Amino acid sequence: MSYQRCGRSGLLLPRISLGLWHNFGGVDPFDVSRDMILRAFDQGVTHFDLANNYGPPFGSAEQTFGRVLSHELRGYRDELIISTKAGWRMWPGPYGEWGSRKYLIASLDQSLERMGLEYVDIFYHHRPDPETPLEETMAALDQIVRGGKALYVGVSSYKAEETRRAGKLLKELGTPFIIHQPRYNMFDRWIEDGLLDTIEDVGIGCIVFSPLAQGLLTNRYLSGVPADSRAGKPHGMLRPEHVTSDKVAKVRQLDDIARGRGQTLAQMAIAWTLRHPQVTSAVIGTSRVAQVDDAVGALAYLGFSGAELRRIDEILAA
Ligand SMILES: NC(=O)c1ccc[n+]([C@@H]2O[C@H](COP(=O)([O-])OP(=O)(O)OC[C@H]3O[C@@H](n4cnc5c(N)ncnc54)[C@H](OP(=O)(O)O)[C@@H]3O)[C@@H](O)[C@H]2O)c1
Repeated sequence: MSYQRCGRSGLLLPRISLGLWHNFGGVDPFDVSRDMILRAFDQGVTHFDLANNYGPPFGSAEQTFGRVLSHELRGYRDELIISTKAGWRMWPGPYGEWGSRKYLIASLDQSLERMGLEYVDIFYHHRPDPETPLEETMAALDQIVRGGKALYVGVSSYKAEETRRAGKLLKELGTPFIIHQPRYNMFDRWIEDGLLDTIEDVGIGCIVFSPLAQGLLTNRYLSGVPADSRAGKPHGMLRPEHVTSDKVAKVRQLDDIARGRGQTLAQMAIAWTLRHPQVTSAVIGTSRVAQVDDAVGALAYLGFSGAELRRIDEILAA
């Protein structure tokens, strides 16, 4: 594993991190979830990314992680970077989502209890809240750090201007704001349009989520939708209708380039997200141990020629 500094902070993150959004919930076989976490850690993946609502049911991925932490990973807390988030709907009523102080503080207390932790390393506001003043949300993040419940804070899916404002407010408060978590992959390049520059200006790191477009940018869907794939499962956030013939045609051409590089398509797709100096880490999802190994293998070859990048752009724009 290689590690990169997260913005201008003291924290180093692994170039590949493991996210527990899918395949670590109460509906998933515990043994497989545990084995993926342990395999990742054995490969030097020191960062595990969670959120209050990962499951299903909501909260159950944090319970799974807490179970592994209290057994197999007992004694390794100081070798781990554990993050969680609040922002999306977690419980009924007006205090179970968005960005109020009331919600964020209660949610993190619940997350800590589910994971059996005293603090998380990174706590994120999971999505911008158009109704709550940003001052309130940022002050809640500050209080969380001062209360010893998180070491660092981050934001997710904030646009460039929102990130700049958050950075200014947190700097005034003296809060260790170190990271932004946006979606980024070959099919969704919005961060190239200003956010990466802002991230650099603010001096924070960037961990990109869904670098494989939930599995579309792999060999998973080259011959239909397998029943054991995310799009094939009833609770997956990728639906069969997202696996369009246009996307599969592009994926086939991208796969040819990856083969020419001696990589799997998943490895090339991960390497492609890591090519920006601002991108500290790519947080992947996995459904089996072999996918953890495949992802880590991407680090063996991260370079791209100008011709390869141009060809990828042509395929994506077609
Ligand atoms: N901040 C946010 O709002 C937000 C939103 C979404 C995600 N996230 C974070 O980002 C993490 C990753 O998101 P994601 O799961 O959508 O990421 P992803 O890496 O784009 O997709 C993961 C899926 O790709 C497939 N896959 C992975 N490696 C493969 C390989 N080597 N070969 C073939 N298929 C492979 C698997 O699909 P199958 O299950 O079909 O095998 C896996 O479940 C989440 O766990 C979460 O921590 C954050």
